[in-house]
Amino acid sequence: MTPSGSLAGKTAVITGATAGIGLYSLLALAGEGANVIGVGRNEARILKAEALIREKLPDAQVKYLLADLSIQSQVRNLAVEIQDLLKERGIKSLDILVNNAGVYAQHLTRTPEGIELTLAVNHLAPFLLTHELLPVLTSGTDQRIITMSSFAHIRASMNVGRLNNPFPYVGILAYARSKLANILFTREFNRRMSGSPVHAFAMDPGLVNTEIALKERGVESQIVWSFRRKKGSSPEIPAQTVLYLCREKSILQSPHNYWRDTQPKQPGRNAMNDRMAAELWNLSCELCGIQNTDPQ
Ligand SMILES: NC(=O)c1ccc[n+]([C@@H]2O[C@H](COP(=O)([O-])OP(=O)(O)OC[C@H]3O[C@@H](n4cnc5c(N)ncnc54)[C@H](OP(=O)(O)O)[C@@H]3O)[C@@H](O)[C@H]2O)c1
Repeated sequence: MTPSGSLAGKTAVITGATAGIGLYSLLALAGEGANVIGVGRNEARILKAEALIREKLPDAQVKYLLADLSIQSQVRNLAVEIQDLLKERGIKSLDILVNNAGVYAQHLTRTPEGIELTLAVNHLAPFLLTHELLPVLTSGTDQRIITMSSFAHIRASMNVGRLNNPFPYVGILAYARSKLANILFTREFNRRMSGSPVHAFAMDPGLVNTEIALKERGVESQIVWSFRRKKGSSPEIPAQTVLYLCREKSILQSPHNYWRDTQPKQPGRNAMNDRMAAELWNLSCELCGIQNTDPQ
């Protein structure tokens, strides 16, 4: 399908842009003329990504910012830095936010703020970053938020009250819940922001050959993923769906909030549970210290 809409002159932020799906999404957007702000957590990996971008797209308009998204103060600082950068460039609104950064943690790990790591990086960071960027995400005419979910959500259930105290902790279940949270967040965001210029989409990138589960301490997960990922696609494939969700005009009228391979998909039953979505929103506000106001 030929996509509609140009990205020339648009400004996009992509988290987790130093590797895998995020890096290739950055290349896809920059290749279409967008000014892209990539977010990474590690300076050496940012330098490596910048070198690859220079090699593939020497004229790309790309700038990286450093933030560990597991730490809320760093998410808040990042939002300030992004808004300062836009101001410096005389830009009033952010056109695209791709919440892509994600982790898999085999063993229970807590952030210095006491949040379970998968919940912190995969759900609360997108939730908080989106919230902090709302002033620039709602000041244009067509603005989009894409949050990287996964088919893994399909088996997930969620006891919202126990989300930050999972017992027993099982890495794959925590990951699946965080990916369910991505779709519930997208659903509740669209309900609350209905009538505004900003639209949120969650996407399933499919099985992708990246290093996601090779980066953590769990040896068993590393072994399983080292085999499983070989069956995955190149990250260039889901990057095309990111690009599609960033620029296709017809999807703004679509009632669907979950996409894969440029097509709408029916998410799992729990991902369509409005009560769960509202409870998760309330808990997320509490865990991020955000005042919970519902404009509807
Ligand atoms: N691979 C798959 O099959 C698959 C399937 C479904 C969904 N997904 C989702 O796709 C997204 C991208 O994953 P991927 O497979 O491309 O993995 P990846 O190659 O490991 O990329 C993850 C990115 O997130 C960054 N990141 C991790 N923790 C962070 C933190 N605390 N602060 C800031 N950045 C952080 C990583 O930085 P570093 O480069 O420093 O590690 C990297 O840039 C994730 O949300 C994942 O859940 C992946």
